[in-house]
Amino acid sequence: MVTKTPRKFFEALAAGAPAPFRDLPVRLERMIHFVPPHIEKLRARAGELAKDVDVVLGNLEDAVPVEAKEAARAGFIAMAQANDFGATGLWTRINSLNSPWVLDDITQIVGAVGDKLDVIMLPKVEGPWDIHYLDQLLAQLEARHNVGKPILIHAILETAEGVKNVEAIATASPRMHGMSLGPADLAASRAMKTTRVGGGHPEYKVLADAAGDAPRAGYQQDLWHYTVAKMVDACAAAGIKPFYGPFGDFSDAAACEAQFRNAFLMGCAGAWTLHPSQIAIAKRVFSPDPAEVAFALKILKAMPNGTGAVMIDGKMQDDATWKQAKVMVDLARQVAAQDPEFAAKAGLL
Ligand code: GLV
Ligand code: MG
Repeated sequence: MVTKTPRKFFEALAAGAPAPFRDLPVRLERMIHFVPPHIEKLRARAGELAKDVDVVLGNLEDAVPVEAKEAARAGFIAMAQANDFGATGLWTRINSLNSPWVLDDITQIVGAVGDKLDVIMLPKVEGPWDIHYLDQLLAQLEARHNVGKPILIHAILETAEGVKNVEAIATASPRMHGMSLGPADLAASRAMKTTRVGGGHPEYKVLADAAGDAPRAGYQQDLWHYTVAKMVDACAAAGIKPFYGPFGDFSDAAACEAQFRNAFLMGCAGAWTLHPSQIAIAKRVFSPDPAEVAFALKILKAMPNGTGAVMIDGKMQDDATWKQAKVMVDLARQVAAQDPEFAAKAGLL
C-alpha cells in the first residue's frame, strides 16, 4: 500500500490551516450526549446540559426528519453561538457524505462556529477515502475561516465495508479522534436479523448440553463482541479512542448498563447517550470502580519504578499489571479532576 511519508502526515493539508495534532487532546468523554438541534426547547437546554455531560453533540443525521435538516443545522449553529461549553466537548454528527445536505453542513458550520467545534462525527464511513475527503475539505475551510485548532474526525463504524476496513480508517489521518460502533445501521448492512438498537438478543445463545429430559439452559451471547473487539484493537493500535454507540431501549436501564460496561471493560472510552436517563449510567460505567482504583493505587505504590514482582492481597503483580494499574489510575485522576465526590471515594484527594 502506498502511504504518505511520516513528515507529510503531520503537515497541514491547506496553506493557512492549523497543523494536525501530534497527540489527541486529553479529555474525558464518557458520554456523547445527542441533542436534536431542530427542537428549540431541547436546544435551549444545551447550556445546562453542558454542566452535566462530557460531550454535547448536535445531531443532524438519522432521527432528524428530511424536512427539518436545514433547521437542525441552523439550530446547531445557534446553539454553539449561544453557549460557552467550557471543558465540555462540542461535537456535531453531520449527514453522510452521499447525502444532499452534507456539503452545507460542513461549510456552514465550520464557517460560523469552526473555532468552537471540537469534533465532527462522520456517519457510514466505509474506508479511508471518506476520511481523506473530509480531512482535505476541513483543512481548506479552517484556512479560509482562520480556525485556530484542527477540528477532529470521529467515524461511525456501521457498515460491513467499514468493519472490513477498520484499521485503514483508524490510521487514515492525524485528524482521527476515534470511532463509535453504530449497531443499528451495522445490523442492517450485515442483514443481521434484529430490530433492536444495540444490546443482546434472546435468540442469540448457546444451549447447555442435554441431560436426559431436563430443561436445557440457554446462555445469551453478546452480538457485538466481535465488532467491539475489532474496533478496540484498531483504535488502540492507532492511538485513537473507541466508543460504544447508541442503546435504543430507554426503558431497560439494566441492559443499557450491561452493554456499556462490556464496552468499558474491553477498552472503550465512552458511549452515546440518547436519553437523559442514560447520562448517569454512562457516568457510572465509564468512571473506574473506586475499589479497583484503590487496588491499582496499591500496585503503583508497591512497585514505584514499575518493575519486578510483588504479591498484593494474594495476587501476583509484575510489570504488566503495573501498566494495567496505571491505565486505571490515569483515568481515575481525569475523573477526579472533574468530580470531587469520585476523588474522595477513590482515595485521590
Ligand atoms: C447509529 O448511528 C447506528 O446506526 O446504530
Ligand atoms: Mg447509524
